[in-house]
Amino acid sequence: MRIGLIGAGAVAKYHVAAAEALPGARLTAVCDIDETAAARAVQGVDGVRIHTDYRALVESSDVDAVIVNTPHSLHLPMTVDAARAGKHVLVEKPMATSLQDCDLMVQETRDAGVGLAIGHIQHFLPDKVMARDVLAAGDLGDVVMIRDHRSTDYRPGRRPEWFFSRSIAGGGALLNIGGHCLDRSLWFGGARAVDVSASVAQRFGVPVETDGMIALRLANGVGVTIAVVSDAPTHSDSLTIVCERGVIETDPRVGTLVRSDGQTRRVREPHPDDIQHAFTAQLADFLGVIDGEAPAVPLEHARHVVELVLASYESAVVQRSQQIPMLSRVTV
Ligand SMILES: NC(=O)c1ccc[n+]([C@@H]2O[C@H](COP(=O)([O-])OP(=O)(O)OC[C@H]3O[C@@H](n4cnc5c(N)ncnc54)[C@H](O)[C@@H]3O)[C@@H](O)[C@H]2O)c1
Repeated sequence: MRIGLIGAGAVAKYHVAAAEALPGARLTAVCDIDETAAARAVQGVDGVRIHTDYRALVESSDVDAVIVNTPHSLHLPMTVDAARAGKHVLVEKPMATSLQDCDLMVQETRDAGVGLAIGHIQHFLPDKVMARDVLAAGDLGDVVMIRDHRSTDYRPGRRPEWFFSRSIAGGGALLNIGGHCLDRSLWFGGARAVDVSASVAQRFGVPVETDGMIALRLANGVGVTIAVVSDAPTHSDSLTIVCERGVIETDPRVGTLVRSDGQTRRVREPHPDDIQHAFTAQLADFLGVIDGEAPAVPLEHARHVVELVLASYESAVVQRSQQIPMLSRVTV
């Protein structure tokens, strides 16, 4: 599978290394409006054509599939243009910035007969995969509640400018970082959300939310709380899964811990290669999708993440919980 990477920013190196690592894949093209960034991303990789116009990349005959790794509002047009050029598409999270865009991406890729996958990396991180395996073993019983805490940094100058543009990013910390929390909480919670209540804070004088809290009730009764806090005194990326007969804690820096019968066991230690391993596994999953297999992350799940972020924004504005699916049309 000859792969073109569109967007050579923060996580490009992981996508490049994933294509290098997989026997069934080869990176043949990269595109960025910043040619220097594009060249830097593929330094040391032979035979990669560099583009500065993504349309030239998607239309080129030396690419079979693309990875869309760009600012959020570009996910839709890049996916549509790639699909119309007959290219399979792996899109970074979040799927898009509106439900209409999500639906169009699904429709266009279906019409074109190409594969579509959304890069929700949490499903491939080794500490989360271990948590999934512990749950699947069944000893801890059913999940009853989930707490998910993430720190981030939405101070001006701490990330590329587009993250602070509501029209380009689609939102702030809740969409970008809270999207990871929603993704993994829904995955481990095992059902869709039926009720959302949220509050957001907009600090540091930036035009998007910098912090947010979400409370979800899932259709199976599982309760979820999510907190995303900018510029916190300590780093956190901590997911606590409370089950009938024990508790799982997972954090990429700590590994995966299981508490039951008054005993704590570390069932997985963190490893320096964990993030790269996840990106490689995600690309392998995408190759499976191209071969007609079901994706690890269903498109409906990725769409539901966007739906819940939008419902959270609405809840924060009207200061009431929102039933899902929402009846009113929400835009960001
Ligand atoms: N999976 C993860 O853990 C993870 C982590 C970080 C970011 N992301 C996601 O990856 C995507 C990219 O984020 P990032 O942090 O790499 O941002 P970034 O700003 O570091 O990189 C984006 C790149 O896209 C390029 N770009 C912008 N417009 C373009 C265009 N029209 N054509 C070609 N290139 C264009 C920019 O020049 C920049 O180099 C986002 O969807 C983000 O949410 C995912």
